Amino acid sequence: MTRAPMLAAACLAIPLAALAQPAWAQDSDPAPIVEIMRTFAGPGTHRPSGAKGACYAGRFEPAAAARGLSKAVIFTKPSDAVIRFSVGGGNPAVADGARGVNRGLSFRIDADGPGQTEFVMVNAPINFVATPAQMLGFLEARKPAANGQPDPARVRAFSEANPETLLQARFLASQPIPGSWVGVNYWAVHAYTLTNAAGARQVIKFRMDPLDGPVNLTDDEARAKPRDYLAADLGTRLASGRPAGFRMVAILGRAGDPTDNPTKMWDSEEARPTVELGTLTVRSVADAKVCDEVIFAPTLLADGIDGPENDPMFAIRTPAYAISISKRAN
Ligand code: HEM
Repeated sequence: MTRAPMLAAACLAIPLAALAQPAWAQDSDPAPIVEIMRTFAGPGTHRPSGAKGACYAGRFEPAAAARGLSKAVIFTKPSDAVIRFSVGGGNPAVADGARGVNRGLSFRIDADGPGQTEFVMVNAPINFVATPAQMLGFLEARKPAANGQPDPARVRAFSEANPETLLQARFLASQPIPGSWVGVNYWAVHAYTLTNAAGARQVIKFRMDPLDGPVNLTDDEARAKPRDYLAADLGTRLASGRPAGFRMVAILGRAGDPTDNPTKMWDSEEARPTVELGTLTVRSVADAKVCDEVIFAPTLLADGIDGPENDPMFAIRTPAYAISISKRAN
């Protein structure tokens, strides 16, 4: 099957505008990357990344300061949100307390409205690869050898030649295991540009800060937890009325900050000033279908929010997700 019909099929599930890519990025074909991801996840694969997850209904309420940075409709009025939390990797039965995988937060705000905006974030400030070619190389280096396991020498050689591909794993290894899907920070990892009503532009990164503070587990505590404690925790929070959600903040960029490479944090990024953009709250459990029928498309952004034009990873994400949904087993 050629790439064109595959994308055409996927267009049934997402708006065409979300598939627009700059001409130079069209050389980056996500199809072989998604294919390897699907092979790694095994037969019957549904999502080859963030396979385990749960879907919720929520609400986004803008903060007053957001309008100063962006004219986007979502920053002018409260909107409904669809939220999916996930545990990284292609194994839908992975233990929630596993080390070595990220936790994901995907959400769409004002679906089908004029402010339609979607984010697919992880609990790390950086991605594990800088370019599609590097992602393909990362995955190919981990293909099982004759014994069914990745060849450690091959993995080591790739890592030595591509040291930035170790940074995300190193960050995650330095952090406690999240005890709650709403007890950890998530980042959109790319550099975005916000434009306000006066036309002023500001480069930023999006970060979600847990409303109820961090909820951390030691490795021993995580091992003692039931396999599916994250959905149970959120259910208990929703039933008890404890805060379940995030403050969305913009980390302010400065002239010269790289915008083309999601493996790079900005200089002293953690200490940068931030502007509060709004609050995303989880309100109730939603049918899985609500999150499964349409992909979360990171390039679908309201007027007033732009993704990076020079980041090849950003450009291929929506097409990759579109291919993935078109190949789902169920
Ligand atoms: C650059 C930063 C990236 C981040 C932060 C990220 C994060 C995520 C998350 C959180 C999910 C779960 C989505 C959900 O809840 O529905 C996901 C799914 C997925 N990701 Fe990514 N991803 C990134 C880049 C990429 C790239 C470059 C590719 C491939 C070229 C890719 C391939 C996939 C696939 C195939 C899925 C499953 C999509 C589906 O079937 O719905 N990701 N990603």
